[in-house]
Amino acid sequence: MSEPNPRLPGQPHIARLGDTLHVEQVSLQTLAREHGTPLFVYSKQWMLDALAAYQRGFEGRNALICYAMKANSSLGILRVFAQAGCGFDIVSGGELARVLAVGAEPAKIIFSGVGKTRAEMRQALDADIGCFNVESEEELDVLNEVAVAAGRRAPVSIRINPNVDPKTHPYISTGLKGNKFGIAHDRALHAYQHAASLPGLKVVGIDCHIGSQITEASPYLDALERVLDLVQAIEEAGIPLHHIDFGGGLGIDYNGDTPPAADDLWQQLLARIDARGFGQRKLIIEPGRSLVGNAGVCVTEVLYTKPGEDKNFCIVDAAMNDLPRPAMYQAYHRIEQLSARHGDAAKTYDVVGPVCESGDWIGRDRVLDVRAGDLLAVLSAGAYCMSMASNYNTRNRAAEVLVSGSSATLIRRRETLEDQMRNELAGD
Ligand code: LLP
Repeated sequence: MSEPNPRLPGQPHIARLGDTLHVEQVSLQTLAREHGTPLFVYSKQWMLDALAAYQRGFEGRNALICYAMKANSSLGILRVFAQAGCGFDIVSGGELARVLAVGAEPAKIIFSGVGKTRAEMRQALDADIGCFNVESEEELDVLNEVAVAAGRRAPVSIRINPNVDPKTHPYISTGLKGNKFGIAHDRALHAYQHAASLPGLKVVGIDCHIGSQITEASPYLDALERVLDLVQAIEEAGIPLHHIDFGGGLGIDYNGDTPPAADDLWQQLLARIDARGFGQRKLIIEPGRSLVGNAGVCVTEVLYTKPGEDKNFCIVDAAMNDLPRPAMYQAYHRIEQLSARHGDAAKTYDVVGPVCESGDWIGRDRVLDVRAGDLLAVLSAGAYCMSMASNYNTRNRAAEVLVSGSSATLIRRRETLEDQMRNELAGD
């Protein structure tokens, strides 16, 4: 009889070896003992493999992959992508400072976001970033003023809202006309003509991002046609566009989800781009989740189990401040026991954190055979967990470890109460 496959389904970098879960070749049990819990652990190989799928998709093309660092902005993660030659999609002056700190090439940085301040614009101009993705006509005017005052011309692309339904959670849909993002398709040509007339701006591209955790190719294909229609119209009006930025948004497998592979998706999109005669154009993309989401797990300890009237609760030491996605988007994260079961009768639990809110849950109706002191791994925790973590209930943010093969590097020390209170003034 052949050995059972030790790898978890859809998680090739996580395996059950010798009675406990490993990320690559490092035991999560050992890491938890060394660094405490809750603890985020990331696989470098998973990130590089995810990046390689995009790189295969763009082989032989003039393309730039800008990691959307809001997904996970820890310096140790940014360094992996900087060293792999990626550019970065940033949304604040803070994110700019982070990527510059890991040695990102300024020309490969693009700045998205609906509410850039004048100070952030100035900071990005001084850093000589590659492009500002502008999201409103007022923003064009303000950026022009800031650039003129600095004696510079700001490279700009206008973010188009194509009014396409990405078929994802409403909070992470961004390309519908009711969303705050981008400039409506119908206004786009006018906005480009205005941008081209301003002395402090240099039009370089067009961009679009329709949402996140997209698991089908069709919304991308629909949005692409609308963007290409605009490229044609804008260029016919005499404004050349050097690049097309098609955003991010590709989903990952949280719970048997089957998003297209990055290379398959891009094969389909490139076929359309070629068919419409734009194959030579520089392409930029801004993937976030799909480069880090399944690289990470969060290890947490069971504090108590408690039978309830209607259901059982498994109370763990990670909470909504560490893993905010279930509370915010009713998101599903798989939960695995680190060690073998006890052989007690498994029960169905709601896995919840210590935070004083009923919304503080991590998984509902999970069948577990656990006792206090056991460790659990919350999967798919690489994206939008640590970067969205907070100090709610005065909880210290977790530590983070980056694993590569058999080596494990601490990339963030656990926060301390002193860190938390450092900037506060209690007054007299
Ligand atoms: N580009 C822009 C302009 C974006 O707004 C975003 C994400 C991305 C790229 C990257 O999208 P991705 O490839 O990661 O889907 N906190 C939510 C997700 C928010 C996404 C916001 N924008 C979650 O946990 O599901």
